[in-house]
Amino acid sequence: MKSIVVLNGPNLQRLGSREPDIYGTLDYTTLVSILEKHATELGVSLTAKQSDSESELISWLHEATDSGADVIFNPAAFTHYSYAIGDACKIHTESGAKLIEVHISNPHSREEFRKTSVVSPAATGVIAGFGIDSYLLALRQLTS
Ligand code: DQA
Repeated sequence: MKSIVVLNGPNLQRLGSREPDIYGTLDYTTLVSILEKHATELGVSLTAKQSDSESELISWLHEATDSGADVIFNPAAFTHYSYAIGDACKIHTESGAKLIEVHISNPHSREEFRKTSVVSPAATGVIAGFGIDSYLLALRQLTS
C-alpha cells in the first residue's frame, strides 16, 4: 500500500482558534480525521504529524525519504526562512519521492516576508490558498 506522510510545522496544532479569519475554524484534530478518511477511501496509508521543532520536522522528512513515502508538507513559518528544512526537502525529492508544499492561506497575498519560500525550489509542487482543501488537493494529486 502506498504511504503518504503529512507534516505540519509550528503553530498548526492551533488551527481552529488561531486567526480563524485566515486559517478557518476547523481544528487540527478534525483536519487529521478528514485526511485519514480520504486516505482510506483512496486506498493509501496516511500518517499525520505536527511539530513546532525544526529538528523534529527534519528527522521526519529523513524518515520519509528512507521509507520512500511521499510527503504533504505545510512548513508554516519555517517555509520562509529555514534553509535546513529546505535542504531536507531537496534530499527527499532528489531521492525520487514526491513532496507537495501546502498552505492553508495564500502567502503571496499576505505580508512581504511570506512571499519567499525556501521550500518551493525543492518541492514537486505547491498548493496554497484553498483552506484545508489544499491538503485534500495534494492527497488527490499523490494518488492520481
Ligand atoms: C501557512 C502560511 C505561513 O506563512 C504561516 O507562517 C503559517 C501557515 C499557511 O498554511 O497558510 O503558519 O503555512
